[in-house]
Amino acid sequence: MSTSPGAGAGSLGGAQATPSSGAALIAATGLSKHYRVPPSRVFQRASRTIALEGIDLSIARGESVAVVGESGSGKSTLLRLLLGLSRPSSGSVSFDGRPVDPARDDLLWLRRRTGIVFQDPYSSFDPRRTIGQTVAEPLMASVRNGSSGPRELGQRETVRAILDRLELPRDAADRYPQEFSGGQRQRIAVARALVHGPELLLADEPVSALDVLVRGRLLGLLAELRRELGLTLVTVTHDLGIVPRIAERIIVMRAGRIIEAGTTEQIFAEPREDYTRELIAALPRLP
Ligand SMILES: Nc1ncnc2c1ncn2[C@@H]1O[C@H](COP(=O)(O)OP(=O)(O)OP(=O)(O)O)[C@@H](O)[C@H]1O
Ligand SMILES: [Mg+2]
Repeated sequence: MSTSPGAGAGSLGGAQATPSSGAALIAATGLSKHYRVPPSRVFQRASRTIALEGIDLSIARGESVAVVGESGSGKSTLLRLLLGLSRPSSGSVSFDGRPVDPARDDLLWLRRRTGIVFQDPYSSFDPRRTIGQTVAEPLMASVRNGSSGPRELGQRETVRAILDRLELPRDAADRYPQEFSGGQRQRIAVARALVHGPELLLADEPVSALDVLVRGRLLGLLAELRRELGLTLVTVTHDLGIVPRIAERIIVMRAGRIIEAGTTEQIFAEPREDYTRELIAALPRLP
């Protein structure tokens, strides 16, 4: 990850991480997202929420980057724009050199090459669909030409293999989301995001609702999968404490801007911004 001296990044100075070798897998330039907020009273004017403003970033293939910041700082908005799930107000995104433009493109090619674990993924599970059907969704979406018998069989095996890799019970594919614990549901969400073999995984607060032990195991699994599959990983979290377990670079966001970026080591050893220092100071200390 590197940030160019644009909005927000200009203040990074010496703390800016050296760009890693290799071309960017995903990059954003001048990315902004403004929402129109309708007036709440009759004679009031509509106002704007600036969810994101002037984001420049570049993430190299194979990197693992954490996006941190307090609630409302724009982390989820950034992920949505990177994947073309939402249109930017200005600026652009490219993936492997190709423009990500949801206004002109169905972005099926991007869906095949990326996976996302949504914040609160449980709400994106259909309670009437089995885990097998839920996890197979990205496979269906990337094939889209009807499924013949052998292909369906292949899909079932692919789904079982990824469920198994995420240490879910053998019969998970035939059961329903409500039968699983919070930690298991998070792992189901990761399975769904990885089943089609993406190059880039974006995970939005993948462990924040989990207790310490379950959280540790899932972070361990994500780190292993990253190595095994050669994934590029972008993890959003408001908890800086998990970052050393999974990411070697950090982007710190506040009020829609990148205010600091660098290697995990740098940010923990010499945070430049008071805000980052506060995020670090807020971490629970082991007795
Ligand atoms: N659809 C929307 N309409 C209007 N405002 C929105 C919308 N989505 C996000 N926002 C606003 O954009 C800002 C950034 O929101 P975002 O969800 O990206 O924050 P976040 O960093 O992911 O927060 P959290 O840690 O709570 O998930 C917030 O002020 C939010 O209220
Ligand atoms: Mg969010």
